[in-house]
Amino acid sequence: MSGADAARDLSADALVGVADILRCPVCGGAVEADRRAVRCGSGHVFDRARQGYVSMLSRPLKFHGDDAVMVGARGAVLDSGLYDPLLRAVAAAGAEALAAVDVDAGPAPGAPLAVDLGCGTGRYLAGVLELAGEARGIGIDASKAAVRAAARAHPRAAALLGDAWAELPLADSSAGLIMSVFAPRNSAAYRRVLAPGGAVMVVAPEPGHLAELVEGVGLLRVDERKQERLAAALDGFGEVRAETVRWSMRTTREQLAAIVGMGPSARHLDAAEVQARIARLPADQAVTGAVTVRVFRRGAPAVRSAPPP
Ligand SMILES: C[S@@+](CC[C@H](N)C(=O)[O-])C[C@H]1O[C@@H](n2cnc3c(N)ncnc32)[C@H](O)[C@@H]1O
Ligand SMILES: [Zn+2]
Repeated sequence: MSGADAARDLSADALVGVADILRCPVCGGAVEADRRAVRCGSGHVFDRARQGYVSMLSRPLKFHGDDAVMVGARGAVLDSGLYDPLLRAVAAAGAEALAAVDVDAGPAPGAPLAVDLGCGTGRYLAGVLELAGEARGIGIDASKAAVRAAARAHPRAAALLGDAWAELPLADSSAGLIMSVFAPRNSAAYRRVLAPGGAVMVVAPEPGHLAELVEGVGLLRVDERKQERLAAALDGFGEVRAETVRWSMRTTREQLAAIVGMGPSARHLDAAEVQARIARLPADQAVTGAVTVRVFRRGAPAVRSAPPP
């Protein structure tokens, strides 16, 4: 079996393993899944793509998410180890949140489920699953390039092409954890899909994140009021954990280009101009990472409401 076939095989097992959670995006009915497709009792069929993901859309995508170049840059940055401090913090917070959920009390007993909305390459979801025993995962992204990568991210993670703003093809009260890592947030979906006692993890940059590239290359500045808007959008949820990860990255110019290329600024900046500005930076430019990992539970009193220092 080739490497690609083996990876595809693993993603089939992951898909079959979450079939009890999936719902038909057309009629809302329960589904069955095998290695080739997902089918509901009313005859709606969703084939598994050659690359392992399944497209389960209730309506055509209006926005197709990150393109293959951006997803490739994001994968290169995550593979290089530059974001390891953040990957570790997300994995620990996610596994802790999942461990606190009593899955058997909810309508989908079995191994707990983590859903990553806007999962990108699936690396953060894989990190959580690695620390969370038998937990299973579903990564959802609007980008085909992203879900192709996410289908190979972890043997217990299924990958779906889907829209975080549309009705999600998931059963009510089925997820112990919903993750949003630098990705869209949909609090209405959280309310419907979260199991009793389930948690939402939101990972978002602080104003100092990648500061050297904001100055030196013209990266978009992090919105100072982002945290305020986040708290307002998650009305009814209490923050139970907040950790700001600050770290320093020693980078090559190639890595700097990948950091710029993986973010939203890649859409706004001229590629040649970015290259020229990177060339003017020191060869081993240090770059600051500053990202907060927050966990919220519905109805929980906030143990920490002040913004991080
Ligand atoms: C900045 S990337 C973060 C990816 C990943 N969470 C990570 O941190 O590596 C944002 C991701 O959200 C996806 N995305 C954007 N809008 C979306 C939507 N409406 N539904 C699903 N995914 C979306 C993009 O395709 C992209 O993969
Ligand atoms: Zn159906």
